[in-house]
Amino acid sequence: MILVLGSNGQVGHELKRQLLERGYELLSPTRDELDLSNLDAVKTYLQAHQPTSMINAAAYTQVDKAESEPQSADMLNHRLPHTLAEYSQQTGAYLLHYSTDYVYAGQGTKPQDENAPLIPQSVYGKTKLAGEMAIQATTNRYSILRTSWVYSYRGHNFMNTMLKLASQRDVLTIVDDQVGTPTSADILATFSILAYEERLKGIYNLTQEGEVSWYGFAKAIFELARKNKRLPNVPKLLPIKTCDYPTPAIRPLNSRLDCGKLLKALDGVKLSDWKTGLSKEMTKQQLPGNQQGTSQ
Ligand SMILES: NC(=O)c1ccc[n+]([C@@H]2O[C@H](COP(=O)([O-])OP(=O)(O)OC[C@H]3O[C@@H](n4cnc5c(N)ncnc54)[C@H](OP(=O)(O)O)[C@@H]3O)[C@@H](O)[C@H]2O)c1
Repeated sequence: MILVLGSNGQVGHELKRQLLERGYELLSPTRDELDLSNLDAVKTYLQAHQPTSMINAAAYTQVDKAESEPQSADMLNHRLPHTLAEYSQQTGAYLLHYSTDYVYAGQGTKPQDENAPLIPQSVYGKTKLAGEMAIQATTNRYSILRTSWVYSYRGHNFMNTMLKLASQRDVLTIVDDQVGTPTSADILATFSILAYEERLKGIYNLTQEGEVSWYGFAKAIFELARKNKRLPNVPKLLPIKTCDYPTPAIRPLNSRLDCGKLLKALDGVKLSDWKTGLSKEMTKQQLPGNQQGTSQ
């Protein structure tokens, strides 16, 4: 029995859908059924249900809010995975967990591999790194997938925010000096399940292929929306620099991740380009977007 945490989130929802399609039996408690910030409740749940493996897609993902709520971020991003790792160590249950490009220094212009310097700049990044370290120090039955720029047709993310803003603004200014790889939750879940089935061990980067700035990503979103005639109004886009768009949390300029280690471990699989993921998610999107706000 697999315990999937965060199954109402972007990645968790796709994981749950794809795992059920593959015939796996799941436990996927909602927030109402299990508050993951209550670690005693989590421990009691684990003892009662005895999952043989765990996939943790739950997290505190509101990057800016984390700056003023460090304890809440630490609870979900550090103490929760530590508790799951303790259960793994006690029972032998396998733990697949997610982390982020925000743990890296995010300097330079080259894709960062798993050995790149870990210098998180934000509360979110620091708490996610603390979660990674707690898992590593507690169990050896784990893998951690560091991903970035996750989006989906549902949930709080950049694509949905752009589509929502299109109906409200004629001009949008978008940061053009942060570069990364948009990764659809759907494709992330597919590769996560491959990693799960292989019971990979250790830390792996996992994003789609290619790179683009947020400005370039927005352009691609609106080009597709225009092509598919799905938006009555497509706003004009203006590129700006990070320093012209101050936010509470510092974001890395370089979010490019080198995924070679994972591809080697999964022997022969290929990651698709981010544009492929975008077309697919845009097709699923019910416009106009009914979600707003961005998380990581
Ligand atoms: N989004 C990104 O761009 C991004 C980038 C890099 C790494 N990651 C990592 O990828 C993983 C999945 O991210 P995501 O984008 O799928 O996140 P998400 O959409 O924000 O989902 C997070 C999930 O955690 C649940 N959760 C949070 N606090 C909870 C609590 N106290 N009790 C119960 N459930 C709680 C949420 O429940 P509700 O639905 O009930 O709120 C939601 O289902 C995370 O580890 C994240 O750090 C994400």
